[in-house]
Amino acid sequence: MRILFLGDVVGISGCSKILNNLISQIKKNKINFVIVNAENADESGVGLTKKICEDFFNCGVNVITTGNHVWDQKNIMNFIDKENRLLRPKNLFEPAPGKGFEIYTTTNNIKIGVLNLMGNVFMKKCDDVFEVSKKFLDSYRLKEDYDFLIVDFHGEITSEKNAIGHFFDGQATLVVGTHTHIPTNDARILKNGTAYQTDAGMCGDYDSVIGMNKDNSLNRFMKKDSIKHFPANGEATLSGVIVDCDVKTGLAKKVNSYIFGGHLNNN
Ligand SMILES: [Fe+2]
Repeated sequence: MRILFLGDVVGISGCSKILNNLISQIKKNKINFVIVNAENADESGVGLTKKICEDFFNCGVNVITTGNHVWDQKNIMNFIDKENRLLRPKNLFEPAPGKGFEIYTTTNNIKIGVLNLMGNVFMKKCDDVFEVSKKFLDSYRLKEDYDFLIVDFHGEITSEKNAIGHFFDGQATLVVGTHTHIPTNDARILKNGTAYQTDAGMCGDYDSVIGMNKDNSLNRFMKKDSIKHFPANGEATLSGVIVDCDVKTGLAKKVNSYIFGGHLNNN
């Protein structure tokens, strides 16, 4: 079983790269299951819409995760309760629409749990991610409740992401960070068998400032005339990780970062 996780899709450039390439990339890389964080996929660069979700599901995405921008396109609040393939961080203050965890059954009867979490440091206020994770692991077990568990940890700082990786080590198949839009070069299998990468990077135009128009962003930093951030529209790179999963243990056999196309392509 080979799972592809793609980091934050940004704007029209990120969406079109997925729509135009995902099906062939799935085939080429022999991928069985695809998870995409799409919380920046709207053309404005924040939030996502029902149409984006449906387009993604139609081109091979199995599950969509999100983060702090999940509600920025308000209509998604009505859609998320009807669509169990769309998750929001589990540790949002309750009550909140949607859910942060679901188990998906593949056509060959493999159960894949996907857990969406959000960090506490330099992020919107939400429940303590370590307490929520502990409660979660008290209730669910690898190879009992699901064959594989994939954790999307949407957070700002590397140390908190590193800590969550170790917290789940041996009890998840993959822990991968999202939100910073810059892929880290540390894909590895941790001591107890969980695959890990601090940040998956983004699916967006890297000739930018984390996916946003670079000139406008520079002007904002330099306190010159600027407008609200808006996505860069050059060719996107698809960025994420591919993990080979061991059906016997539920843990990782192999993990590699995945980079395809655009300005980051070094193949
Ligand atoms: Fe984010």
